[in-house]
Parts: sequence; structure tokens; C-alpha cells
Amino acid sequence: MSNTNSQDTLIVIQDLNKKFTSADGKVVNALENINLEVKRGEFISLIGPSGCGKSTLLRLIANLIEPTNGILTVNGHSADVARRNREYGFVFQSATLYEWRTVTKNVQLPLEVMKYSRQERAERAKKMLELVELSDFADHYPWQLSGGMQQRVSIARALAFEPPLLLMDEPFGALDEMTRERLNNELLSIWHSIPNMTVIFVTHNISEAVYLSSRVVVMSPRPGKIYKVIDVDLPRPRSAETLDSDGFFHYSSQIRHLLREVMA
Ligand SMILES: Nc1ncnc2c1ncn2[C@@H]1O[C@H](COP(=O)(O)OP(=O)(O)OP(=O)(O)O)[C@@H](O)[C@H]1O
Ligand SMILES: [Mg+2]
Repeated sequence: MSNTNSQDTLIVIQDLNKKFTSADGKVVNALENINLEVKRGEFISLIGPSGCGKSTLLRLIANLIEPTNGILTVNGHSADVARRNREYGFVFQSATLYEWRTVTKNVQLPLEVMKYSRQERAERAKKMLELVELSDFADHYPWQLSGGMQQRVSIARALAFEPPLLLMDEPFGALDEMTRERLNNELLSIWHSIPNMTVIFVTHNISEAVYLSSRVVVMSPRPGKIYKVIDVDLPRPRSAETLDSDGFFHYSSQIRHLLREVMA
């Protein structure tokens, strides 16, 4: 299920491989034979043990690194075109804010790079800070905020230009359970509010993956592969009720079993 009726394909990954060669000449097969299609408007989570290539896959989609071989297209183009057209926002595991810029100025940064007018930058930053409930902190500096608040600023920044594709690498990994739950709900309402927005979300947390996703991609390590893709057929909008439902329990335990298999 997605937040749109249009089911056209956004990302195509075919027979993708990524090898890294370390300084001592040892080759690591970070990803082997990856095949995945992502429809526009889907919310996909990548889950799997440490080192199975989740970040690598996200970085390949973002064109921060190049595949060793295979096909990867975003919006019908190679990933570098999508990057140059700024078709995605990226949220890293830890908030990567500029300490000397205020919250507002951090959120405006990509808009400056993209040459938005001063007025449009101000309007968009204001709107995004409202969305993540940080309007009162617009003129604060990152070091005056808690870790969770900083992460919300980096989400606001990634969303400021309403990217059609949002790539998130364990964005809530370092947060306490209650803050994570709240931000999960914020993220879902943002996703619902931007038509056709596609999210690819890396997490280690099974509940989070089930709660958020239309599909969960379970990956296995050494070499990194897609082990199984689970369709999460739970009604939307998701809520506290979802967390107590039999369906939620069913998907969570299914994924827990798969993770046990890949770690065995
Ligand atoms: N730049 C790099 N140079 C060499 N090896 C790398 C590089 N980046 C990743 N690797 C290797 O590729 C494999 C996959 O790494 P990756 O960071 O994608 O894993 P991950 O699934 O994101 O793990 P984690 O859950 O710990 O974040 C690992 O064996 C890692 O050591
Ligand atoms: Mg990682």
C-alpha cells in the first residue's frame, strides 16, 4: 500500500553489485546481485544485521558512491542525473548540522544551494519547522538543542524542497523509544501530506519497520543480499491501534524469524 494510486516505478535496481577494496587489497562484497523495484509513493524499510549493506544500498541510490556493476535508475535516469536534479533528500544516522548556523539557516541551506529566493527560503523553512514542531527554536543554534531536536532539524532540512525521494539512514537510531514513536508519526504524516513522496528508510528496529512501511526488505550479510521482501498489509493511517493489532504482531514476528535465519 502506498500514499498514492499511481503505481509507476521510481527506482529500478537490477543485478547490482558493489565491491569495496580495502587498503590492504582485500575485497569486500558489500552487495551481491541486488534486484529491487520501488514504486512511486512507497515507504520501504531496509532491515538486517550490521554490515549487510543497508547504508551502501542507500548511498548507491543517492549516487554518493558508484556500483561495481549492474543497473540502477531513479525516475528513469541514472542515479547521477537524479542527484544533479536534486530529486532526493538524505537524512544521515546522526544529525549533520552546521554548528555556526541557526536552526532556520540550517534548514535553508539546500534552498540556498538550489538558488531559491530569500523570501521562498524563509517561507519554506518556517513551514518545515512548524511541521517538526520546532518553530520556537528557529533562531537557536544546534548545540542548544537535544539530540532528538537536532535530528528533527535535519529532517526539516531534507524535506525543505519537498524531494520526491527521501533517503533516511537510521534517522531515529539514537533516540529514546517515546521520541522515536513520536517522530515515526510525524514522518508518516509528512509522507501522507506530500503526494507521491517515496521513502527508503534504514533501521535496526523491527517494530519501527513494520509500523512505517509498505514493504520491508530483509537483508543478509557477507555478501550483502536481499533475503526476503515482506508486504506489510496493515491499514493506514497507522496509529497506536496498529501497534496493538494482531496484524502488527504477525509481521513483527515474521521479520524477527527471518532476521534469526540470516544471523544463524
Ligand atoms: N567505503 C568503504 N570501504 C570499504 N568497505 C566498506 C565501505 N563502506 C562499507 N564497506 C563494507 O561494506 C559492508 C557493508 O557496509 P554497510 O555500511 O553498507 O553496512 P550496514 O548494513 O549499513 O551496517 P550497519 O547496520 O552497521 O550500519 C561492510 O562489510 C563494510 O565494512
Ligand atoms: Mg549502516
